[in-house]
Amino acid sequence: MVTCSAPGKLILFGEHAVVFGEPALSIAVDLRVSTRVEGSDAFAVNGQSLDRRKYRYVKNAIGEVWRGGPLEMRVDSSVPVAAGLGSSAAVTISTLGALLHMQGEFNPVAIAQSGFRVELKVQGNASPIDTTTSTHGGGILVERSPRSGLLWSLSRDEKKWFLHDCPLPDLSLVVGDTGVKAETGPLVLGVKKLAAKSETARDQIKEIGRITLKGKAALQDGDISLAGELMNENHKLLNSLGVGHPALDKLISACEGLSYGAKLTGAGGGGSMVALTDEPEELAGRIREAGGEPFIVRYSPEGVRLEV
Ligand code: PMV
Repeated sequence: MVTCSAPGKLILFGEHAVVFGEPALSIAVDLRVSTRVEGSDAFAVNGQSLDRRKYRYVKNAIGEVWRGGPLEMRVDSSVPVAAGLGSSAAVTISTLGALLHMQGEFNPVAIAQSGFRVELKVQGNASPIDTTTSTHGGGILVERSPRSGLLWSLSRDEKKWFLHDCPLPDLSLVVGDTGVKAETGPLVLGVKKLAAKSETARDQIKEIGRITLKGKAALQDGDISLAGELMNENHKLLNSLGVGHPALDKLISACEGLSYGAKLTGAGGGGSMVALTDEPEELAGRIREAGGEPFIVRYSPEGVRLEV
């Protein structure tokens, strides 16, 4: 029997712009998924069929790497589903970690590569930011060319991403889920269409790239106030690109006076926002009063790991 766990993630800067080759910064958080695996006479997850839609990441992870017989699996998650916190990547990576360990092949590069392939199969479209962050933990800077701290590169068709280790100090954050569901694909397409016809939009995308690098430096220097201001600027630019939502702005306004800065996180169009704060409990209360579901999270340096 093997148990493996992997963390959820948050994009702090650069979503959408990363699709155009600009940098993005994400972090692993202290909410984890754990997957326990043991041999059995039939495949099952949490006592249910592997064919259930909610287990499609587990099923594809098995299809991707497993060469043995039937398995009984137990998946436990403290990462909320569909809240911009990378729950599907954490399920995928913890499952792959357990399976690869059972075959004597546990290593981060193999796990991140297989994880990206599983997300592509299930979602049809994905950048490797979620799966790499869940594999490695800590901060991950994604860029279209290599620089120091390179962990690995991953490609799909003509696109190539270079994933860098970007360790950050401890951060206290509150995520607010608006409850408004929005799909990533159409939002990415909307920004693509806007960028094709508007030079202003293309400049805004480049500006997000510059903000990401400034935000990374501010966080590494421990300048939380500056990092917060940069998050606010990043959010305004995302609104201009058409991926905001009134429900996000409502939650962000509710954080005023209690946070250094806040922005949408992930694809937007609803989904979640994140605020940088040192008063997480109070801020979570404000988000709840404003109609959102809050999750208090911290930066976590730990990626995928085997549990004893
Ligand atoms: O929805 P999430 O948290 O996986 O983030 C999507 C981030 C985008 O930049 C909008 C798309 C991408 O694949 O990078």
